[in-house]
Amino acid sequence: MATKLAVLTSGGDAPGMNAALRSVVRAAIYRDWNVVGIARGFAGLIEEDFRPLFRRSVGGIIHRGGTMLRTARCEEFTTPEGQRQALAFLERIGVERLIVIGGDGSMAGARALAEAGLATVTVPGTIDNDMAGTDYTIGFDSAVNTALQAVNMIRDTAYSHERIAIVEVMGRHSGHIALSTAAACGAEFVLVPELDFHMDDLTEKLRRCRYDGKKHGIIIVAEGVMSGYELAERLHDVTDYEPSITVLGYIQRGGAPSAYDVTTASRMGDLAVDIAAEPGAGHLIAMRNNRIEAVPYAEIGDAKRGLDMELYQLIDELSM
Ligand code: F6P
Repeated sequence: MATKLAVLTSGGDAPGMNAALRSVVRAAIYRDWNVVGIARGFAGLIEEDFRPLFRRSVGGIIHRGGTMLRTARCEEFTTPEGQRQALAFLERIGVERLIVIGGDGSMAGARALAEAGLATVTVPGTIDNDMAGTDYTIGFDSAVNTALQAVNMIRDTAYSHERIAIVEVMGRHSGHIALSTAAACGAEFVLVPELDFHMDDLTEKLRRCRYDGKKHGIIIVAEGVMSGYELAERLHDVTDYEPSITVLGYIQRGGAPSAYDVTTASRMGDLAVDIAAEPGAGHLIAMRNNRIEAVPYAEIGDAKRGLDMELYQLIDELSM
């Protein structure tokens, strides 16, 4: 009987998840496997919501943001009872292998199922790019490019009105989007959750910029530090600046994936199927030193991917 593979997307959606799905489905069918898609992440395993997927089922999605399978964050699945239910369901429908596309929380779920004996492989997908074990997660490049495009438009008006533009970007616990956006747009200052923020450092930087003849500026703040509105108030309290505030929000998670995200998703999805075929599969598909490889869950620590401090220094150095 043909091997049966299930695939799901879980956690926050990210541009490129559909391209990863397309790759998984077609690579598996190329091997003569049967594929089922689980709806709404791990919730679909508990609600038993699935459908068979064929080559044509994943046609016309390579360029689409979001995920055609839909996604969710499922509390019930984090309990032993939820996981037992999910395993029983997969066994009943004859699924022997599972590919999960998502971030850290999703990998934790896939890992729990692997420890219970199911072959699982995780494809990293989150705009935050903060997962342990991999240098890159699908969706990050697209999210940063979306943020950059927006900031470049905001900069036009900040220049014309001689204002400080505060732009709040996503990242409740992680500053990678803020940092890369700040570097790419040449921001004067960036606030990230990983580093302590001192108002004096910001006001001193703005003072030096003004002394040097700069009449406008851009501050990128990750949502996990404080809101753009709060930062504007605090800045207003100690300076005579009247900042403009823009919250980019969910536009960073939507939209067409970049070329980099589509090709990375396609390559990662294909390797995920190869690894799922091996006995004892329990791996994350990771980007390490620009190479895509499979890393056993057991070799991945708890530490989230650290911030690039060299890039942080560079932003400061080049923005005067
Ligand atoms: O997907 C990542 C992310 O956008 C984080 O940057 C943010 O902290 C979180 O998801 C917000 O997710 P939601 O609003 O869907 O709960």
